[in-house]
Amino acid sequence: MTLYLAPLHGITYYNFRNCFTKHFHGIDCAITPFIAAQPKDKLNPKKLRDLFPENNTELHIIPQIMGNKPADIKETVAVLHETFGYHQFNWNIGCPMNQIVRKKRGCGVMPFPDLIEETVNEVCGKTDVRFSIKMRLGLHSPKEGLEILQRLAPYPIDFLCIHPRLGVQHYEGNVDLETFELFYQTTNHNIVYSGDINSVDFFMNLQQRFPKIENWMLGRGILQNPFLAEQIVQEYSNNTTRFIDFYHEYSQILISLKNEKAALCALKELWHYFAVLWKLNSEELKKILQMNDCHVFNNYLHKMINEAGK
Ligand SMILES: Cc1cc2nc3c(=O)[nH]c(=O)nc-3n(C[C@H](O)[C@H](O)[C@H](O)COP(=O)(O)O)c2cc1C
Repeated sequence: MTLYLAPLHGITYYNFRNCFTKHFHGIDCAITPFIAAQPKDKLNPKKLRDLFPENNTELHIIPQIMGNKPADIKETVAVLHETFGYHQFNWNIGCPMNQIVRKKRGCGVMPFPDLIEETVNEVCGKTDVRFSIKMRLGLHSPKEGLEILQRLAPYPIDFLCIHPRLGVQHYEGNVDLETFELFYQTTNHNIVYSGDINSVDFFMNLQQRFPKIENWMLGRGILQNPFLAEQIVQEYSNNTTRFIDFYHEYSQILISLKNEKAALCALKELWHYFAVLWKLNSEELKKILQMNDCHVFNNYLHKMINEAGK
């Protein structure tokens, strides 16, 4: 079994990945948050810090690319392969954000199976890398996803990472496991399942229902409970001190890299998830989100975690 850390744009960059895997176990590899596909002459790998091999010595990563032009995607893959030596790449056709979908990127690509087939043909046929796709059930309808599975059947896709919602749903409602089952039965490609794994119980239900799946992706669930991967692989020892050590180190990294205001912003985003672990009610969460001083914010939280851990 392989456990993937989900790409979470704005959160799971290399500093987070490194600090997280230093303090918590069980994650085997990560897909990075997306970078934009570019033609060769416009791509500047020196700016892609998140992909520098020296920044990624702790965890195996698969760079993720977003775009809708087969030639740009192929060139981006080729340049990153040559510059950084990566052998695996992932194409994001699942992002549901309106401003992205409107530009026919992310999930906006899903209604265009010709474009998808052309891209896969271009990359798999003309580069020497393993190419995977991260998708949803469709943008408007699962028919789109099923059509894509048919089209991809002859190609040597590394894996299909499937999030069982439609793009128009964003993250609302429950994951649609009935329709996902149809996808599971339709494709012979390896599947990485991604969606709502927030507890060991839900994970075990999925594992029972989809026994052929060996690859699972943890996203918001592992932010809400950083011990989740350990609980899944049964190497768990709950320890408040471990969370405090992680949080302390990561907040210091953010403060040293960004100004305090930007660090506070990034930490607040994370506390939307950590609030679940520390059982903050909406009033308590609101109170911390209103704080404007990074040190006051962190001191308050350290005190709260210490008290909760006693
Ligand atoms: C804040 C946020 C940022 C995300 N960024 C990306 C991204 O850059 N690339 C991608 O393929 N998916 C992205 N996703 C989708 C996740 O990788 C994942 O598939 C989704 O959250 C469902 O899994 P989860 O319920 O385990 O979080 C993002 C999701 C969220 C909530």
